[in-house]
Amino acid sequence: MPKSLKILITRQVFPEVIDFLGADFEIDYNESDVVLSTDELCERAASCAGLLCCLTEKIDNTFFEHCPTVRVVSNIAVGYNNIDAIEAKNRGVKITNTPGVLDDTTADLTFTLLMAVARRITEAESLLRQGRWKKSFAVQQMLGMDIHHASLGIIGMGRIGQAIAKRAAGFDMQVRYFNRTPLDATTEQKFNVCYVSQEAILRNSDFVLVMVPYSAATHHLIGAEELALMKPSAILINTARGGVVDEVALIAALKKNQIAGAGLDVFENEPAFNPEFLGLKNVVLTPHIGSATRSTRMAMAMLAATNLKAALQGETPPNWVNP
Ligand code: DGY
Repeated sequence: MPKSLKILITRQVFPEVIDFLGADFEIDYNESDVVLSTDELCERAASCAGLLCCLTEKIDNTFFEHCPTVRVVSNIAVGYNNIDAIEAKNRGVKITNTPGVLDDTTADLTFTLLMAVARRITEAESLLRQGRWKKSFAVQQMLGMDIHHASLGIIGMGRIGQAIAKRAAGFDMQVRYFNRTPLDATTEQKFNVCYVSQEAILRNSDFVLVMVPYSAATHHLIGAEELALMKPSAILINTARGGVVDEVALIAALKKNQIAGAGLDVFENEPAFNPEFLGLKNVVLTPHIGSATRSTRMAMAMLAATNLKAALQGETPPNWVNP
């Protein structure tokens, strides 16, 4: 049967997603996975009704001008700072995201980074790989920082923040959080967390985690002033969005040992990152893999496909962010 609506899938996904969407729509699939230039994106989307895309695609006024037939943009991500959702709303374009299915996986990776920095895992491993492990045991070799019973400050206590707090409980950590809206008392009790100001988190935590969505309001939320409040023994972890932390200020703070270390899964201009990070031993760096397990990425892609199909078939999509 001829399919009346065409969609563009901007990046490589899974065969299951192609089968699911292919049953109802004609698909232009960028299976090569090479990130499309703005011109190519606009050209290929111009004949489409919907888009399944990632944070690598900038969906802004230029896009909407060139692609007036696009009615739905479905992002394979919970964060959608790559999309101008307000402009989309003004133009009647539905935007959807993938909340809920990546919380545990992202919390796992956040905790992995926290532990890797605290226990100097990448530094220790490279010592071994480079043949620099000379004494089988030395009392002062590769001394790290305790995770158990340490204080953990979470800035941004949404679903992922709460999943991290659950993990922290197993390590007997003392968890404080800051959020625009405090949690209700029952939820605070459930996660054994205590609400404090952002300043108190910065001043008193052994580990500071930033878990906020990126927006103009959270741009460089952690900059030179905030880093200066942190303890010299503290570690900063960012698995949210690169722009939340001022990287230049962070590098300066790490270089002068104003803080003890950092774990970063996200960067301001991905896939580029400040090369000065590579010269710092006290950072652990990963390439935006917070939600990168097969089952979670499959769940995200299928949820995004479900959102797209529902919206194009005239239903209310489950995760519509700009109603
Ligand atoms: C998200 O879902 O926002 C993750 O960062 C993956 O893009």
